[in-house]
Amino acid sequence: MAIYFDVKTKTFYLESKNLTYAFCVDQAGFLNHLYFGKRIAREELGFSVHSVDRGHGAYPPDFGRDHSLSIFLNECPTYGRSDYRESMLAFDFDGVRVGDLVYDGYTVYETKPLLSGMPSVRGGETLAVSLKDVLHGARVVLYYTVFEELPVILRHAEVVNESDEAFMLDRAYSFCLDFPDKNWETVTLHGAHLRERFMERTSLSHGVFSVDSKRGVSSAQMNPFMAIVRKNTDEETGEAYGFNLVYSGDFTFKAQIEQDDSLRVLGGLNDYDFSWLLKAGEKFVTPEAVMVYSENGLGDMSRSFHDLYRTYLINPRFVNASRPIVINNWEATYMNFDTQKLCEIVDSVRGTGIDTFVLDDGWFGARNTDKAGLGDWVVNEKKVDLKKVIDYTHKNGLKFGLWFEPEMVNKDSELYRAHPDWAIHADGLEPCLGRDQLVLDLTRDEVRQYVIDSVSAILNAYEIDYVKWDMNRPLTDNYSAWLKKQGKEFHHRYVLGLYQLCEALVNGFPSVFFEGCASGGCRFDPAMLYYFPQIWTSDDTDAYMRTFIQYGTSLCYPLSAHSCHVSVCPNHQCGRVTPFASRGHVAHLGATGYELDTAKMTQEELQEVKKQVEEYKAMEALVLHGDLYRLNDPAKENLFAEMLVSKDKTNAHLTVFRPFAVPNGPAIRVYPRGLKDDATYYIPELDLTRTGATLMRVGLLVCLNWEDFASATYRFIEK
Ligand code: DGJ
Repeated sequence: MAIYFDVKTKTFYLESKNLTYAFCVDQAGFLNHLYFGKRIAREELGFSVHSVDRGHGAYPPDFGRDHSLSIFLNECPTYGRSDYRESMLAFDFDGVRVGDLVYDGYTVYETKPLLSGMPSVRGGETLAVSLKDVLHGARVVLYYTVFEELPVILRHAEVVNESDEAFMLDRAYSFCLDFPDKNWETVTLHGAHLRERFMERTSLSHGVFSVDSKRGVSSAQMNPFMAIVRKNTDEETGEAYGFNLVYSGDFTFKAQIEQDDSLRVLGGLNDYDFSWLLKAGEKFVTPEAVMVYSENGLGDMSRSFHDLYRTYLINPRFVNASRPIVINNWEATYMNFDTQKLCEIVDSVRGTGIDTFVLDDGWFGARNTDKAGLGDWVVNEKKVDLKKVIDYTHKNGLKFGLWFEPEMVNKDSELYRAHPDWAIHADGLEPCLGRDQLVLDLTRDEVRQYVIDSVSAILNAYEIDYVKWDMNRPLTDNYSAWLKKQGKEFHHRYVLGLYQLCEALVNGFPSVFFEGCASGGCRFDPAMLYYFPQIWTSDDTDAYMRTFIQYGTSLCYPLSAHSCHVSVCPNHQCGRVTPFASRGHVAHLGATGYELDTAKMTQEELQEVKKQVEEYKAMEALVLHGDLYRLNDPAKENLFAEMLVSKDKTNAHLTVFRPFAVPNGPAIRVYPRGLKDDATYYIPELDLTRTGATLMRVGLLVCLNWEDFASATYRFIEK
């Protein structure tokens, strides 16, 4: 059992092997947060509660002057009753915006009930604490899930309208977590298309720090991830709390320091353009927030996220299985291909170990440029004999993958000509374009049904083993006529519609492997990972840029979820030239594949591909199940190094990439981590045998070619 309630002190203790989360019901029925961190004894914690009469403050009438909610560590703060900080929920009861949510009982579930309508993490003992606003008939149920072996708490909330009148929800965050001191910094993942998830560290000051997305997608500009860390926290040491939202649309995370120098962290659905009409008897469910605690730096935090997602989030059918090693034709041909060209690509990879051919954009409708065809999921038979390509691929022993962009429509398409109103728009306004395309209104049943039927028809008619699900623009013109005055529900309803599509198509074709994509990594979040075991990490395939992108992405997402391809040079995104071997080494730190014209490669080059695939196969178990140690951060030094160590620590793989050659430069010494001190490891590349302790403390001298973007790998095998 992991959840305890002490009746005398009315304190809830949530415990896993290394973690305690505690809060109590205070004398007025509010939930007083007490502690979240390293496991402590189950003792009375009331002694730690700070209450004082604050000047120019206010307090609820039954409380007394020294009990203002403005400095109360609150599990579920609301607005207008003496707490002036950010609230977790905000209501509008026919104009009245204030009320008291007070304790009204609890339930413990052996396994977490799954969230309705939204993906969420599976399993874990779960506490549901009920709060009630008696005056307005609003019930709020706060869910807390705890896992015995992981330092993780999951949180989400349900709001139920138990009155006879409708009310509005103006804010519905998933969690609020108060910390008693302000000595924290944030770590966030910002970026852009082709530069996704760069790590950024920010000192906090008094006021509100926030990150968010308003784009209708979780976005490349800001990932739904934030950590708070001590100033001295690094990869190996110091406290870190990581927060990630299982959601693919508009989100926000906030960190607020106020008058008493405490820190409030909250997050959930972005309320910037949100409100929700909750009719009598209806229930609103917030997305799930994942909270990870680490006392040993960002490295341990990441490993806990990785273990959680691999064990309890990503589709169990695929998560532990060997990933397809693809050859994707996008950068080889773009939309300029025919049956013969595709068969030539298939021919060329024979014998290399590449096992899946993925036909990307351009096989359907009038799709010869990116201005036409989206929405028309019928094969362009004038251009390509799809059956022939698939049969040829299968005959050559490869699996076949096909690209779709189910959420989109071009104006120049049969679909748009038949149903112009199916694209998201507000009447009287021409909707904004993105890559010359519009977004389908997934809030509408008939639109979703069309997508399900047309995509299913292709998946039923052809033998398709793999689908790449792309999404190439953010949302605008957020409205759907059927919503009338409830336009602020649009963004969330779009995301719920998307999840319904995924349920129908991903679960409807359970043996098909789905890879997620949104112009690369513009929608890389845990909810997408629930459906797609891997996501195309970035359209940027340049090995140097990938070291930053993959480093940041690994903060919370396991390497097996990063889809990484070797592409041609000069690189198509930035013109950089990097050695072929380095491109392979960087791509091997994820689900690897190729994206170049293998039909134009020489036999020697194809032999290199074969060698790389063999190397990848030899380390794949580490990519799928291993522990990641980030050794050197390319943003801080002229070096990127990462180490993957098997759970039993009997073998490991080290990748080193040095961006710029330095004439007469210092020695490159890398300190392995994660090995057993007293075990002896053999490193074949150096023909060296030493104990883990020696290797980790003395470090390895890395010998690299005399050129920019050089790399090397080392294997560690326990003797
Ligand atoms: C964006 C993706 O990220 C690319 O890999 C490719 O699939 C194109 N879309 C196709 O339009």
